[in-house]
Amino acid sequence: MKLAVLGSPISHSKSPALHKHWLVENNISGTYEAIEIKPENLKHDFGKLLEAGYVGFNVTVPLKEKIGVFCDFFDGGAQATGAVNTILLKDHKLYAYNTDIYGFKRNIETNAPTFSWNDGPAVILGAGGAARAAAYVLQQNNAPEIRIVNRTALKGVNLAEDFDGHFVEWGNRENALKGANILINATSLGMQGGKGLDINLGNLPKRALVTDIVYTPLMTPLLTQALDRGNTVVTGADMFFYQAQKSFEIWTGLSPHVDDSSKEAIV
Ligand code: ATR
Repeated sequence: MKLAVLGSPISHSKSPALHKHWLVENNISGTYEAIEIKPENLKHDFGKLLEAGYVGFNVTVPLKEKIGVFCDFFDGGAQATGAVNTILLKDHKLYAYNTDIYGFKRNIETNAPTFSWNDGPAVILGAGGAARAAAYVLQQNNAPEIRIVNRTALKGVNLAEDFDGHFVEWGNRENALKGANILINATSLGMQGGKGLDINLGNLPKRALVTDIVYTPLMTPLLTQALDRGNTVVTGADMFFYQAQKSFEIWTGLSPHVDDSSKEAIV
């Protein structure tokens, strides 16, 4: 079974180490490579990989919104978000999935088991691919209100329209926290070495859950602030493992274990 993750840049990807570990653990003979593909070469390079016998792919930045045009069938999440992160070639057809959605949901449900999605308004900071995955999960799980806060208004308005949400101007982000049940940072702010997320959580109810898509560092300044004032927090770390688990299951039919040995495989 020939598998690969496609993207650019791709050398930093931790997916090969994790999936190779799972192939061995499950006695499946196969390979999993990281293959650099630039968007302008996607059609040509992807075509060559299909000819070369690859049957499963992960897809990452900047190809998630671009690879769908070559696919035949889409799962509900890939269709709703317009983003594909997993592909299976079966009977000469390409099946497209978005397992980031599963990863996001499972991360919260595993690490905050008492949390209810429908227990009040949700606030999403950001309007990129990660924000779309979060909005889809919230909509599917009957969040009563979805507030989309984004620096670029047009992107935020579009996302809000697609998921029956309300757009909030970036400058009003602290007002958007009032009465919220969950706060999700789906911007890149807070990443190691980058700009921080400037937000005071004073308006956020203490019972709200706070989660961050950023997982380097594990405890972002946002999560530290939230924890200090008594909110429950969930880091972004396990989202990676759960999206990978679902992808592996799509290719092989086996659901691999997310455990200490899988965590050790990527360090
Ligand atoms: P991903 O697919 O991982 O979500 P993305 O599409 O690049 O990545 O989205 C990054 C998000 O972080 C966007 O919502 C972006 O806001 P814009 O739509 O205005 O670009 C947000 N973001 C990045 N840098 C930001 C900054 N300095 N201030 C506010 N938002 C920022």
